[in-house]
Amino acid sequence: MSTSEFSPVLFRLQRSELAVPGSNPGMIEKAAGSEADCVLLDCEDSVAPDQKSQARCTIISALHEIDWKEAGKTVSVRINGPESTHMERDVGRIIEKAGYHVDTLLIPKVGIPKHVHAVDGLISVAELAAGITHRIGLECMIETALGLVNVEAIAGLSYMPRSRLEALHFGVADFSASCQSRTLEIGETDHFWHPSLQRMLVACRAYGLRAIDGPYADITNPQGYINAAKGVAAMGFEGKWAIHPGQVKLANQVMSPTDAEVEQAQKILNALDQVQSSGQGAVSLDGKMIDAASGKMAANIINKSLAIAEKASG
Ligand code: GLV
Ligand code: MG
Repeated sequence: MSTSEFSPVLFRLQRSELAVPGSNPGMIEKAAGSEADCVLLDCEDSVAPDQKSQARCTIISALHEIDWKEAGKTVSVRINGPESTHMERDVGRIIEKAGYHVDTLLIPKVGIPKHVHAVDGLISVAELAAGITHRIGLECMIETALGLVNVEAIAGLSYMPRSRLEALHFGVADFSASCQSRTLEIGETDHFWHPSLQRMLVACRAYGLRAIDGPYADITNPQGYINAAKGVAAMGFEGKWAIHPGQVKLANQVMSPTDAEVEQAQKILNALDQVQSSGQGAVSLDGKMIDAASGKMAANIINKSLAIAEKASG
């Protein structure tokens, strides 16, 4: 591990994360046919308490019946939280019966590093029982005041040997509730949360994790969604949840570099290449100073656009 450079623990394209209730087979099937980079099959808050067991069965069937790889999807399952009586069964049943098709588990309401260790241990047992050979990843939701207070310690788990941690998600609805904020909206009030979003983002980048923003509830307001997504994209978030298929294209659009950005990034890299031999550090491009840091910013954009092009070409 370098002590100055951020290096991602694992790259996955995760511009859009389409969350669907695990109890709804129709919505799961639609999600598989969507343009989402990732599909999140939910066992937690979108599933009523008396449907938890049915949701688990529906998720297991959908994991087997749908060809998620062919559909180009990363598949994640949100289990119930560390303090719920359902969590152990979610991990055990889903991983033992269909873990082969699961890319990651998303743990909600992570408050302390121990929560992550607990799920990691359960996955290891289930993986062994089912003979699963690929490594199932972990993603955590930061959505409580305690989770944010401990976010650096939680993110830092990514550099422990054999860590499964890949990403953190900001769950604005639960976070609002946890902070007792005076709002009944979900995702409209991102400006309240800029310091919190920024803290989680920095923890992610310090420890090589992907940073994903959570839901925006008003599915009738695409412009509101775009504004919220643009705000977090500018900070460095690489993806956002969609709670309706209609939000997927908005997330993909905002979280992809534009043609103009790619063109400018390439211009910067070309200009820096040309001056490299002359021994100059900083140079001027169209009246603006560029230097090695500009080169890294430009490379981020080019790398993202290449990953998107690769996905598009199948
Ligand atoms: C999502 O789970 C949220 O609480 O925003
Ligand atoms: Mg939540």
